Amino acid sequence: MEQELQSLATEAKDGLHRLDDSHQLEDFRIRFLGRKGLFSTVMKKLGTASAEDRPRLGQLANSIKKEIEKLFEAKKSSLAASTPSNASGDLPDLTLPGRCPEGGKLHPVTQIMTETCEIFENLGFSVAEGPDVELDHYNFEALNIPAHHPARDMHDTFYISDSVLLRTHTSPMQARIMENQQPPLRVIAPGKVYRCDSDITHTPMFHQVEGFLVDKDISFADLKGILTVFTQKMFKKDLPLRFRPSFFPFTEPSAEVDIACVMCDGAGCRVCKKTGWLEILGSGMIDPEVFKMVGYDPEIYSGFAFGLGIERIAMLKYGIDDIRLFYENDQRFLSQF
Ligand code: DAH
Repeated sequence: MEQELQSLATEAKDGLHRLDDSHQLEDFRIRFLGRKGLFSTVMKKLGTASAEDRPRLGQLANSIKKEIEKLFEAKKSSLAASTPSNASGDLPDLTLPGRCPEGGKLHPVTQIMTETCEIFENLGFSVAEGPDVELDHYNFEALNIPAHHPARDMHDTFYISDSVLLRTHTSPMQARIMENQQPPLRVIAPGKVYRCDSDITHTPMFHQVEGFLVDKDISFADLKGILTVFTQKMFKKDLPLRFRPSFFPFTEPSAEVDIACVMCDGAGCRVCKKTGWLEILGSGMIDPEVFKMVGYDPEIYSGFAFGLGIERIAMLKYGIDDIRLFYENDQRFLSQF
């Protein structure tokens, strides 16, 4: 009996040693450790041993069984660790395509900014960039907005010191360029602007493109023509424009420009609040006072200027109703563009 137990132990250890997959492991378990397996059969035979031998043989049988069970568990974990994760234990399918890293994309604001600049460059405008940290002089004074002018209240300015601030619009580039160059001029100035304001239509930082053209005999009709071409190209539709009288200290006359609602083509909907129109930019004829400050003779030169918000254009183009979505870095939003 003792010998039978010992040879069963040897046979089990050999068997375990040779195992190399999960099917064989299960066969082993049934053959040796199962309810009707070899160990159970030997245990049952213990009853026939003499009363004198029985305790010793019982102990031996138990310790062998425990040892085999332990080796079995160890084998089971080592097989699990080395088996590929596909449950069948087969080799990986080498014909499957690899996992590609997801390609990056340009931010929707960058896309609209680039598109806007391209449209104006094709109309003969050159691109100029200026500082985000600006002097009060260029942001306000040179644009006919002296200290204490009520128009300053509209700007919610972040001041750095009494004379230095974060620019609240890209219009200071009009003064910076005109101060250094003589007409004729056709310039756009794209960039970041800052205002202390935050809600579904305002973020503390947003993007504008300023545009201006100065030459002899420039009229409001030229402004209208350029903006009509821009909106047609940007919205890929022949949208009617509407000029509404407005006021900006650096343009006279001034106008806010609306386009027929891109969602309902002017019929009236939720986006245009049933008016059929959407405001897209501010514009006007450059004020003679601004020309005088940069040393141009307003009797000789005239020009127009306009300023548009890039986030606003993107929101109208894509039907986005909360500007803050652009700056939350949510991939589910960004990957749509
Ligand atoms: N700078 C103005 C703003 O940010 C927008 C603007 C209006 C720019 C009229 C212009 C203009 O050039 O002529 O509110």
